Amino acid sequence: MSSEKRPTVLSGIQPSGRLTIGNYLGALKHWLGLHDRFDCYYMLVDLHAITVRQDRDALRERCHEFLALYIACGLDPAQNVLFVQSHVPQHAELAWVLNTYTQMGELNRMTQFKDKSAKHADNINAGLFTYPVLMAADILLYQADRVPVGDDQKQHLELTRDIAQRFNKVHGPVFTVPEPMIPPVGARIMGLQTPTAKMSKSGDAETDALYLLDPPEVVTRKVKRAVTDTDNAIGFDVAAKPGVSNLLSMLAALSGEAIPALVDRFEGKGYGHLKGEVAERVVALLTPIQTRYHEVRAAPDYLQQVLREGAQRAAGKAAITLDRVHDALGYIPR
Ligand code: TRP
Repeated sequence: MSSEKRPTVLSGIQPSGRLTIGNYLGALKHWLGLHDRFDCYYMLVDLHAITVRQDRDALRERCHEFLALYIACGLDPAQNVLFVQSHVPQHAELAWVLNTYTQMGELNRMTQFKDKSAKHADNINAGLFTYPVLMAADILLYQADRVPVGDDQKQHLELTRDIAQRFNKVHGPVFTVPEPMIPPVGARIMGLQTPTAKMSKSGDAETDALYLLDPPEVVTRKVKRAVTDTDNAIGFDVAAKPGVSNLLSMLAALSGEAIPALVDRFEGKGYGHLKGEVAERVVALLTPIQTRYHEVRAAPDYLQQVLREGAQRAAGKAAITLDRVHDALGYIPR
């Protein structure tokens, strides 16, 4: 028997807004096969979510919706630990400890804190400030080796590494120092109306994003209205032709074709052709996902059981790390 330890992957998503094709092509899709090589933990970060005011019913609805969508997209609960952050109390417990290993100055430099406090100027709460410390706790509790994150979370991951190294320097090797897992190039999908900014799951403009639960006719309409430019010449140039380039990236991710091959194939054809094919591919991807989603959503007992089992497996691992932390700090064992 091999005693080889499989490395751990962990990622989290905020149960707010609605999951988009960008979430799927940029993240979810790449997670599906990871369980062959890694122990995989994916959580809904409902503790993070309340750093911005949430509506009670909407939050609960979103958690169920996101979980069902993860499963519908092919994330198998038997192969991946799927759970809700608030079900595992060790997250908040470790976050407290790590707060004392994090400097105010470090948190002050976080660009997400600056952005969010500008956006929510009436509620700059302490949780918003210490948000990255809770994220560090999420990651370090599971001794994660690799953390799939988008660009916007790299700074938080860097801080996580600094906190882990600082703690280890004082107390010995308690934490695994995690590495980012960067999605493949071209996997970053931009907004349809503002192709210079990432497609957002909580943006205000309905037409900017393709949501995983959009019906086919909505997908088709949104793609047809996507911003392009006036030369009607297919070409990949993110700076000069951000809209067309985004459509090409999406099609490449959806079809597996390389971008240069797509540019060749569409040469001399108008944007309408490109849009038509993008819409078709998106609908073909989403139709079975939506069918499966509605089946899973109609089985609340099943979802509850997935969460219960996920929380149990997660808490088992989290408890081991927290015990080591308490021991390192000199806390009296229970
Ligand atoms: N902060 C991340 C985001 O907004 C979500 C998150 C919370 C996360 N904890 C995490 C991501 C742990 C990766 C690992 O996208």
